[in-house]
Amino acid sequence: MNALSQKSWAWFSQALTQHSSFSAYFQPLIQIVAPQWTTDAYRASVVDIRDELSDMYTLVLAPQAGWLDKEWPNFKAGQYIELMVEKNGARVLRCFSISSSPAHYARTGLIELSIRQQYKGKMTPWMRQQLQLGSFVNISAPQGDFTLLASADANKKLFIAGGSGITPFRSMLQQQALNPSSLQTDQNIHLLYYSRNDKEIAFKHELASLQEQHPGITITFIDSSVEGFVSADHLLKYCADFHQRTAYVCGPSPMIQQARKVLSELGLSSDKVHFEYFGAAPIEIENTQQGVVHFAASQQVLVTEKDNTQTLLEHAEAQGLSPVSGCRIGVCHQCICKKKSGVVFNTRTQKFSDTGSEEIQLCISVAQGDVVLDI
Ligand code: FES
Repeated sequence: MNALSQKSWAWFSQALTQHSSFSAYFQPLIQIVAPQWTTDAYRASVVDIRDELSDMYTLVLAPQAGWLDKEWPNFKAGQYIELMVEKNGARVLRCFSISSSPAHYARTGLIELSIRQQYKGKMTPWMRQQLQLGSFVNISAPQGDFTLLASADANKKLFIAGGSGITPFRSMLQQQALNPSSLQTDQNIHLLYYSRNDKEIAFKHELASLQEQHPGITITFIDSSVEGFVSADHLLKYCADFHQRTAYVCGPSPMIQQARKVLSELGLSSDKVHFEYFGAAPIEIENTQQGVVHFAASQQVLVTEKDNTQTLLEHAEAQGLSPVSGCRIGVCHQCICKKKSGVVFNTRTQKFSDTGSEEIQLCISVAQGDVVLDI
């Protein structure tokens, strides 16, 4: 179908169903009898399940072609996918980093997700019990921009991982090791890997052997029960040339905040520090202006207080509105909504928007003054 006919088809569908495609219109109906049926995901079969730690396992998946045989797209090291399963008749969705590399996928057709079982979690322990070899799950296309910069001045890298935040770094390190062209550059990576204790180090032997085989890779395991979390002392002691490196940080929110603070105090500029929150990003905005949020389509108005830190999703729900949402932490993009005007603060990127019309994610946007939304 050419671009013109695609647009006409989308217009025709929109006019009849208020959806940009007929499949999106019928999808909720079909999912009543078949919750996993979807046109916007890919199927993947479970080919192995491996325990890494007492509370972490790896799912090995073989992605299949999607709707109308669309191939699952390749990914960049550091990206994540949404994984959807049917649990007690309901469709449940979670996001997981891909812990294996694109080079591994190119060789084997397999990807790995290394998953920490959340204590009292609804999904991760259940998946460990219920999924078996040959089970099928639905997965999204790869997403996310926690990926490595390619420029030559970013060749020296500092990785800081906490707990299961090791997963995107395992993908990046494996990619370096399996991709011969990367070994010919002057790539130099130093990983500081914080674990709760020395028994909770995922991929310990694999990482140690990567270090042995590749002179450009250095790995320091840090037991946080003994040495505490990221500190200036750790950086000066274990990676004294950190100020020449581009830093990538992934792990629990408090660890990321601590690492960013320490790196900033030691003079590393914020454009050389990249980070990925596992979970909701903290709202780091002060002095928000009082304003009025107009929910234009539903003709409702809400006055926000000065120093308000509630997200627009929370504000909309407090008004009795029910905008579509999923993860509520800025990764699934289900809460995307059109902002007609006004400035919002994005809690994931820590940046303010422009004033004009654009799409925003309600669950990670905080109003800064007057805002008009198309809901
Ligand atoms: S609900 Fe998932 S990005 Fe907002």
